[in-house]
Amino acid sequence: MDLAGKKIVLGLTGGVACYKAAMLARELGRAGATVQVVMTQAATQFITTVTMQALTGNTVYTDQWDARIANNMPHIDLTRDADAIVIVPCSTDFMSKLAHGACDDLLSTLCIARPARVPLMVAPAMNVEMWQNPATQRNARQLRQDGILLLGPDAGAQACGEMGEGRMLEPAQLMEDIIAAFQPKLLAGRRVLLTAGPTFEPIDPVRGITNLSSGKMGYALARAAREAGADVMLVSGPTALEVPHGVQRIDVQTAQQMHDAVMANVAGQDLFVAVAAVADWRVANASTQKLKKNADGGAPQLQFTQNPDILAEVAALPRCPYCVGFAAESENLAQYGAAKRAKKNIPLLVGNLGPQTFGRDDNTLMLFDEQGHTSLPHADKLTLARQLVREIARRMAA
Ligand code: CTP
Repeated sequence: MDLAGKKIVLGLTGGVACYKAAMLARELGRAGATVQVVMTQAATQFITTVTMQALTGNTVYTDQWDARIANNMPHIDLTRDADAIVIVPCSTDFMSKLAHGACDDLLSTLCIARPARVPLMVAPAMNVEMWQNPATQRNARQLRQDGILLLGPDAGAQACGEMGEGRMLEPAQLMEDIIAAFQPKLLAGRRVLLTAGPTFEPIDPVRGITNLSSGKMGYALARAAREAGADVMLVSGPTALEVPHGVQRIDVQTAQQMHDAVMANVAGQDLFVAVAAVADWRVANASTQKLKKNADGGAPQLQFTQNPDILAEVAALPRCPYCVGFAAESENLAQYGAAKRAKKNIPLLVGNLGPQTFGRDDNTLMLFDEQGHTSLPHADKLTLARQLVREIARRMAA
C-alpha cells in the first residue's frame, strides 16, 4: 500500500469537482492513508460532510470555531501530525487566498499554520476563462514560487459546457501525483527514454506475429522514473495499459517503427531503458492484401528478415545515454544474463525468468553489471521498478 501510515488532510473548496474529491478520499483510504477532511462553506454547497465522513470514517471539520476541539485550535491540531495537505478541488478564490496568505476560514488558516515540513498540493478546478485570467496565472506562479505543488489542471470538456484548460485531474491521476510526492527525487532533471510492450510484425493487413509481453514492467518503470522527478518518454508497442500520468507516450507497432521513434528522440536523453520484447525478425514478404486459403490446401511461405537491434544501436552512439537492457530467459539466467550484457555492451542488464512472468503483476529480477550479479527479490512490478530506479540512479551518479 503506497500510502500506508500516511495522514492526509484533504481540503475541499467550492466547485463541481467536489464529486471527484469523494472518489479520491476513497482511493487514498484504499492506499493505506488516514484521511482527515476539511471543507470550506462553499464546498458544502456541492457535497455534504455526511458523504465525506462516511467515506473516510473521520469527522469532517468546516469551522474555525469548532467546540468539539478541546483547545479550540483546529488549525494547529489538524496539521501537526499531517504528512501532506491536498486541496481538491482548489477554486480560483482559494488559490488567491493561498497566494496572499489570507486566513479567513479554517482551511486557509490551517494551510498557513502547517509546519514547513508538510507539503501542500493543490488541484485547481475552474472554468477556462477563470484559469487563463492573468490574476489566476499570477497566483499560480506565486504558489509554485512558494513551494506549493500544483496538480494539473487538465484541459478538456468542462462542467459549464465550455472546453479548455482548468478541468481538474481525474482521481486516478491525482493519486499518482500524491503518491509521487512521497518518492525520493533520484532522477530530478534527468531525461529518460524507455521502450515497452511487444511489437507486432504484420503478415498481411489482418494478421501478424507478436509475443506475450504485456508492457507492465516497462510502464511501471516509466511511472517510477516520473515519480523520481524525470522527464519521461515511453515508446510503446501495442498494449491495453493506461499511460502513467505525466509520461509522454509514442505508440508504435513494428520493431522498425520502434527503432525509428527511439532514434528520432534519443538525442539529449540521460537514460535509455529497453524493456520492450522486440521481435528479432519481421516477415520480409508480408502481403498488402489479405492472404486467402488455397484450394489445394497449401500454406503460405513466409520469409523472414532481421530487425534492427535498437538497444545495441543506441549503446553504440558516440554520445549515448546510460543504457539499461532487459532479458527474459527460460533457463540459465545467471549465465545468459552476464553474456548478453557483454554482447550488447551496456553497463546494466536486468534479467528475469520469462516467459512465465509475462503479463503478471509481480516478478523477480536479477541485475547484471561489471561487478557481477545481484537479485531484487520477488515483489510487485511497481515496487521492483522503484528499486530499479534507485539502482540505476546510484550507478548513473557514480
Ligand atoms: N532489444 C532491442 N531491439 C531488438 C531486440 C532486443 O532493443 N531488436 C532489446 C530488448 O528491449 C532488451 C534486450 O535488447 O532490452 C534483450 O533482448 P533479447 O531479444 O533478449 O536479446 P537478444 O540479443 O536478441 O538475444 P536472444 O534473442 O538470442 O536471447
